[in-house]
Amino acid sequence: MFAGYIKPLLDGTFMDKDPDIIRWAPFALLFIFLLRGISGFISGYYLSLVGRYVVTTIRRQLFHHLLCLPLSYYDKNNSGQLITLLIFQVEQLAEAATKGLKVLVQDISTVIGLLALMLYYSWELTLVVLLTGPIIAVIISFVSKRFRRFSRQIQASVGDVTQISSEALAAPREIRIFEGIDDEKKRFNVVNERNRRSFMKRVVTELLSMPLVHFIVAIALAIIIYIATHDGLINQFTPGTFMSYMSAMMLLLDPVKRLTQINSTLQSGIAAGENIFSLLDNETEKDTGTQQLKQVKGDIEFKQVAFRYDESGSDTLKSVSFKVKAGQKIAFVGQSGSGKTTLVNLLPRFYNYYKGELLLDGVAITDIKLDNLRQQFSYVGQDITLFNDSVGNNIAYGKMRHASKEAIKQAAIAAHAFAFIEALPHGFDTLVGENGTLLSGGQKQRIAIARAILADAPILILDEATSALDTQSEKAIQSALSVLLKGRTTFMIAHRLSTIESADQIIVLEQGEIVERGTHQALLAKEGAYAKLHRLQFDRLDS
Ligand SMILES: Nc1ncnc2c1ncn2[C@@H]1O[C@H](COP(=O)(O)OP(=O)(O)OP(=O)(O)O)[C@@H](O)[C@H]1O
Ligand SMILES: [Mg+2]
Repeated sequence: MFAGYIKPLLDGTFMDKDPDIIRWAPFALLFIFLLRGISGFISGYYLSLVGRYVVTTIRRQLFHHLLCLPLSYYDKNNSGQLITLLIFQVEQLAEAATKGLKVLVQDISTVIGLLALMLYYSWELTLVVLLTGPIIAVIISFVSKRFRRFSRQIQASVGDVTQISSEALAAPREIRIFEGIDDEKKRFNVVNERNRRSFMKRVVTELLSMPLVHFIVAIALAIIIYIATHDGLINQFTPGTFMSYMSAMMLLLDPVKRLTQINSTLQSGIAAGENIFSLLDNETEKDTGTQQLKQVKGDIEFKQVAFRYDESGSDTLKSVSFKVKAGQKIAFVGQSGSGKTTLVNLLPRFYNYYKGELLLDGVAITDIKLDNLRQQFSYVGQDITLFNDSVGNNIAYGKMRHASKEAIKQAAIAAHAFAFIEALPHGFDTLVGENGTLLSGGQKQRIAIARAILADAPILILDEATSALDTQSEKAIQSALSVLLKGRTTFMIAHRLSTIESADQIIVLEQGEIVERGTHQALLAKEGAYAKLHRLQFDRLDS
């Protein structure tokens, strides 16, 4: 509109001295800019709105998807890269979808409008501009590939920066004792430097491509001016038309510049989009189950179960068979790495690609609805995880969130945690810090036990649940548990054999195979692997 406005302004006022145009010219200018201001606000507002919706929606989808991916996905992927996807790449995608789209729509329509005006004034001259089109297209497609490559490098390096820094921040003690400060610095500097270099490569590409495209357009404009002034074409124009044409040409430069510039944003967005959508394409945990068990007794049977983490790896569990009757306690012992944790992890279907059969109350666990199956378990893992929340909320986590204060207190008493919780500055409302850093190892473990007790599930998995406790607390918890666990099937894993003596059945694992089974007394009498382990521990205790 502004370029078109020049013609009547010049011709009408200077040449024809048209009183109407003279009267209306200032108002028309104000109108054009008012329109521009209003549309600028509206487009800016709605584009930001769209952009923020893109960010929140995709972030939500990504996070929800991440929560539901199978455990094997977490084993294989680096958390730094996943976090970067959520924080950094989502922003890039949104920027491409909004700012990129805005420039694309706005500037392409500006370019088309200006070209249409120029074609209208003189199609012969304007053809020269159009001839530059293919040249510019070749340049753009060449730099686009480079942009995308550097954007991928930038995204990967941001992921590495996240990964290395979060690792370093989580291990302040090890870093100090083992003089890791220099190594961490070096590790960090490498990725930080890589990030800078990738950024600079992208900037250089951007800075080279922009003036190049600009220059090509300028050449076209120079040719136009040359032809217009030399071929007498200029005589066809009124001064107003010529000025209008020249303004349109000049106004063309800015959008063309922005269009080349925005390419880098668009390509980053495309690279981010590829990563984001490929994560979303990962299948979430498959729920093959159809059955809904109502009253679970807790009979468990393993029938020749074999399992390997990785297709190409070797079997971590080899043909494991055993039965646990409802309400019984079964204990697993064996060397570190013999497959005890792996075995119990199959029960709630943390990994579901095992061979053989695994039955709960006679039903294959793959036929039971996943959430129904998991409701039947309570769990204290080998690595305790606490959330950055109060002690009370850590005990009453997830499905127990509506547990009464009294129930939480009873669970804490049974887990031998009540005394120390009461001594904390705010009792159950004390915040435990990130992963419970403000508590001792044994305190964390007792909170995890209280959580497992509160869950009140028919089957309990205790993977080294009392390993961080002193013998006295352990004994106290054992006696409290033995009352609570009556009638519940319990899987216990312990290196300290004194804690499992009372189990109904003890299974000794060696490299994923069962080598012995029986009660404590029977196994001692057998003088086999268990008796040997036992002797070793008691010799150590004696000395
Ligand atoms: N997520 C995983 N991905 C691949 N391999 C794994 C994974 N977890 C464990 N392993 C491997 O499986 C084997 C058994 O590990 P598992 O954790 O079951 O041993 P464990 O008997 O519980 O040992 P510990 O007494 O030390 O806890 C080990 O050799 C280990 O390297
Ligand atoms: Mg283990």
